[in-house]
This record gives sequence, structure tokens and C-alpha cells, in this order.
Amino acid sequence: MHRMTLVRRGCLSSASRMTLRSLSLTGTGTGTGVAAPSVFTPTARTLVAAASTATPTTASSDQSTASTETARKKRVLSGVQPTGTVHLGNYLGAIRNWVNLQDTYDTYFMVVDLHAITVQPHNPKELLEATRNGAALYIACGIDPTKAKVFVQSHVTAHAEMAWLLSCVTPVGWLKKMIQFKEKSRKNNEEVGTGLLTYPVLMAADILLYQSDLVPVGEDQKQHLELARDLAERTNYLFGGKKAKKMGCQYTRLFKVPDPFIPPAGARVMSLQDGTSKMSKSAESDLSRINLLDSPELIESKIKKAKTDTFDGLADGFENPDRPDAKNLLTIYQCVTGKTQDEVIADVGRLRWGEFKPVLTEAVVEHLRPIQGRYADVMQDQAYLDRVLMDGREAAEEEAMKTLMNVKKAMGFYTL
Ligand code: TYM
Repeated sequence: MHRMTLVRRGCLSSASRMTLRSLSLTGTGTGTGVAAPSVFTPTARTLVAAASTATPTTASSDQSTASTETARKKRVLSGVQPTGTVHLGNYLGAIRNWVNLQDTYDTYFMVVDLHAITVQPHNPKELLEATRNGAALYIACGIDPTKAKVFVQSHVTAHAEMAWLLSCVTPVGWLKKMIQFKEKSRKNNEEVGTGLLTYPVLMAADILLYQSDLVPVGEDQKQHLELARDLAERTNYLFGGKKAKKMGCQYTRLFKVPDPFIPPAGARVMSLQDGTSKMSKSAESDLSRINLLDSPELIESKIKKAKTDTFDGLADGFENPDRPDAKNLLTIYQCVTGKTQDEVIADVGRLRWGEFKPVLTEAVVEHLRPIQGRYADVMQDQAYLDRVLMDGREAAEEEAMKTLMNVKKAMGFYTL
């Protein structure tokens, strides 16, 4: 049976196939990374983004969806949860790539605080702090609020409302098959909150509310992206087109079907302690990750203790399947230096572990240094940060409400 028919009928779940058209930033598996963004003065709000490696934007004109009434730039949306501290995986897999996109796309970057309360019980004080810190880190990493909309998810209440509407068109089987749900509920002896199950619906609401074209994320979010695509198609089928027209909707295609935007390098940064498992905020040992705000001394000690192997040199580190730790550390080096794989091997392939680790340490520390400096500046100017978030909320709300009102009308809600 055709895939679309299966999606409409709710038979096909995201877990059952992974046929995403993942768009890469450079189109090659050995693409360049990005140098650290340049100088920033919060008050002047001047940020020069790192050189863009993204595909040029083509303006799209689509009369049928909310927010596309005139030709517009393609839209990009993404977010990071304010849980714990942001690590190198979040940065290389997601945030760093957002910076490249803000010059050519219409960009929305949010701190996804509603997502941060799915693992019970959350700590309210930590959530508050991590939300503020998260927004400051986006700016420190090179997101320019004069180009991108930076906001906090819970400030735009349309996210929660849209999540409810979408949850009512989501077959529960689709959610039960989500890998992250299965893993986390297994870890917690199945004593998990309902939010952990329904979380991908909220993520779909985040994306679909803005008629997003591209969603830059790390590899672990692919399945959630696939669910968002399925939900867009299913809702369009159930309530869009002629049915929406009959209900008096302004836009007959309710949702744009988004594409993931996965970087060629850094999409899955692995634990420093185990090259076969993902670098993660929830891993018990802090030695397993490099946090963006770690001091140079701490970074040095974490890299020193990082797992290695017994092979000679690093020349085959990228391609040898028996060398996951080498591949991981070389990839980190590749990303923070902006080199290609070939350049990395030419540069450090001859080195032994003991020689490579200090080189890697220096590259990571130097890459993070300007980010840490800007973070300190932004955190000192709380009024500036609040202003950015208020402006971001206003702009985001305007777009989100267009979609929400249109979808509510299509679904038969009495709108005034
Ligand atoms: P979160 O907060 O777990 O992770 C934020 C981003 O970081 C990426 N990432 C990684 N990339 C490479 N290597 C790693 N080890 C690594 N760990 C995390 C993630 O893929 C992600 O891009 N549900 C999402 C947040 C979210 C969202 C959205 C994203 C909510 N709504 C709408 C995009 C669009 C999450 O929990 O990401």
C-alpha cells in the first residue's frame, strides 16, 4: 500500500521506517566545520555569523499555508531543552549549524522548556536557571537576535494548545514505538510520566506551528522529525484541502511537511568514555561529555581521561569500525577546527594518542573560548536578554497564531 495512504490511516508509524530525506549542510560526508563566531557586543547587538556553508535559500511562494501568503524565505526552526548544561553534542549537532542558517533563512530558535519537565520530578529552580542560561548560550554561540527570533517555548502558549489538537489525531501506537520513549521508560522501570510518551507530539506542534521548511537537529531526533512529518500529512488529509475550504479556512493546506537538516559531521557526538554511546546530558558521569562552559582545565582533564584504543596512530580512525573512540575524537577535532576529514588525517593521522590529546584539547578550548567570553557578557546584561526574548516571543506568537487559528477553524472550533 502507498506510504501516504498508510500514514493517513494511521497504520504506518515513524518507528517502522527511516526513509528521511536528510538534507546535509554541505552535501558531503567530509564537509567543513565552522570556525568560532566573531566578536560580540550585547548592547550594540552586533554579531557576525560564521561563514555560511548552507545551501542558498530559494524563496518559496505557496498561497495555501498560513504564513506563506507572499513569497518568503524558507523557514528554519529548532530548539534545545534546558536540562542540565549544554554539551558539545548539542552544539556540534544543532546550535552551531543554526548560526550558519540565520543569514539565508527565516530562523526561529527556542529554548524548549515545556520539554524539560518530562522526566519526573523536575527541579523548578534548575529549570528557571537553565532556561535563562540556554537563551544566553544561543547568543553566545553566534545566534544574532537581529536576524533570528530567539524565544522561550512556554512564552508562546499556542505550542501547548496545538499539541493537544495534534495529540487527538495521533495513534498511540506511533508514540509507543518512539525509541527515546522506549529507552527512557525502560531505564525508569516504566514509572514515567505521560509527558514522556506525548512529548514527540509537542515537538511536532513546535515545528508545524511555524510552517517550518527545515529543522536542523542531531541524528537522535530523526525519528521525532519523521513523526512530525507524518502528523502534518495526516492532519492535512483529515482536515485540509477541500474540507478546510468548506470550513472557511484562509489556508487550505494546514501544515507544511518539514525536512530534517542533519549535519554531515557532528550529528552524533559520542561519549568520551564510550565511543559507542551518545554524548548525553543524562549520562551519570560528567567525564563522558564536554560542556560548553567547562573550564580549560576541566576540558583538558576530561580529554586526558577519554577512552582510547590500542591501535598505532590515527590514520584509519575515521573509517575503521573497530575504532569508535578514535572516530569520535577525530570528528570532534574536525568540527572545532573546520577541517575536512582528509585534512584532519593529514594533520594528525601520524600522531599517537598521547600526542593527539593535547592537540585536541587546545583546539576545543580555543573554539569554546570566545563563546564562553560572550556568554559572560550576555549574562551580565539581563535587561538585554529579556528584551531579546520579548521581541522573539512577539514575532513567534504572530506566526504561531496564524497556523493555530487556521487549524482550529478547519477542525470545527467556533472561532471569533
Ligand atoms: P535535546 O535537547 O535532547 O538536544 C538538542 C539538540 O542537540 C542534538 N544532540 C546531539 N547532536 C549530536 N550529538 C549528540 N550527542 C547530541 N545530543 C543531542 C539533538 O539532536 C538536538 O538537535 N526534542 C528535542 C528538542 C526539541 C526540538 C523541537 C528540536 C523540541 N522541539 C523542535 C527541533 C525542533 C530534544 O530533546 O533535543
